[in-house]
Amino acid sequence: MTKLTNCILNKDPSCVPVWFMRQAGRYLPEFRNIRSKNKNFIKLCLNSNLSSKITLQPMERFRLDAAIIFSDILMVPYSLGQKVKFEKNIGPKLSLFNLKNFQSNKKKDFTGKLRPVYEAIKKTRKNLNKEKSLISFIGAPWTLIVYMFGLKKDKNTIDINKLKKSESDIKIVLEKIVDFLCVHIDNQIKAGADTVQIFDSWAGLIPQENLFNYCYKPNKKIVDFCKQKKIPVICFPKGIKKKYLEFAKIVNPDCLSLDYEINPNWARTNLNNYCLQGGLDPKILFEKEDVIFRAVDKYLNAFKGHPYIFNLGHGLLPETNPEVLQKLIDRVNNFK
Ligand code: CP3
Repeated sequence: MTKLTNCILNKDPSCVPVWFMRQAGRYLPEFRNIRSKNKNFIKLCLNSNLSSKITLQPMERFRLDAAIIFSDILMVPYSLGQKVKFEKNIGPKLSLFNLKNFQSNKKKDFTGKLRPVYEAIKKTRKNLNKEKSLISFIGAPWTLIVYMFGLKKDKNTIDINKLKKSESDIKIVLEKIVDFLCVHIDNQIKAGADTVQIFDSWAGLIPQENLFNYCYKPNKKIVDFCKQKKIPVICFPKGIKKKYLEFAKIVNPDCLSLDYEINPNWARTNLNNYCLQGGLDPKILFEKEDVIFRAVDKYLNAFKGHPYIFNLGHGLLPETNPEVLQKLIDRVNNFK
């Protein structure tokens, strides 16, 4: 067992493992160096030597307890036949969704397209200290659907008319994509990953009346699959505020990752039955050292004696200074 899986499965509060969402990424000059020579992001994710190398970059720099495989949640829609482009300052753009094409997908071809991701996991596991976890991940069905159907109007709102118009297609995709996501999880585990994180990054945009069907139900199906495979699973239903409690009760994951809107003291009181992760606002890392340390200590103190994994409330931002991150990691590792 690793420090991370011991915390999640044995609910051992005696140490606080630490890793970061987007720990492999643009805030690291060594990543930017590789990225500048590899303009096509999807191709980069499908280059198993480079994606393994990128996965290990933060592990070489910092005392982290887990690596997360360098890939993207959008590799799944890509492997189900949609074109995916990453445009600077706009974000990911997918080609128009077509239900017939979607329904014609076969699991074998899907696995074939994602083979380089599994190769990258194998290579990474070989080069990673056995005390460290290797985290695999997927996007939750709803969050993938936001991109597959182009549902966003701007950064933080969805186009309700488009959502209503696509409702019958969305229902079909919600059901069927779970099967492909479970295949992807299974393949990642077989390749050597020991933990799964499910990113429902846009759960906060779901209309209240759809929360059960669009968020809880699909997350629960995937969590149940992971439990059946005895693989520790972390859920991140970002933006649902106090519904975290309802989510926890219904979905019952091994660990819940908090976003930066959740008050840590509220979480300690109300989510006391669950192993918890993260929460710190990634923007805090732009502040002065004393402000950062105060914020870090707030989380460490709130979860003292409770199974807790240190992480952020969303991914590391590209403007983050790696030296500041180093200080934060030391603070967590030296906390008694
Ligand atoms: O280090 C890690 O966390 C592992 C790699 C990882 C990436 N994306 C690499 C990446 C992970 C776990 C993801 C998950 C992901 N991808 C999510 C869920 C987490 C979240 O942030 O909410 C989402 C919504 C995506 C979709 C996505 N991919 C977006 C919106 C973007 C562009 C905007 C942005 O934040 O850069 C990407 C591109 C992407 N994925 C980059 C990286 C390192 C940046 C690519 C670049 O170099 O230009």
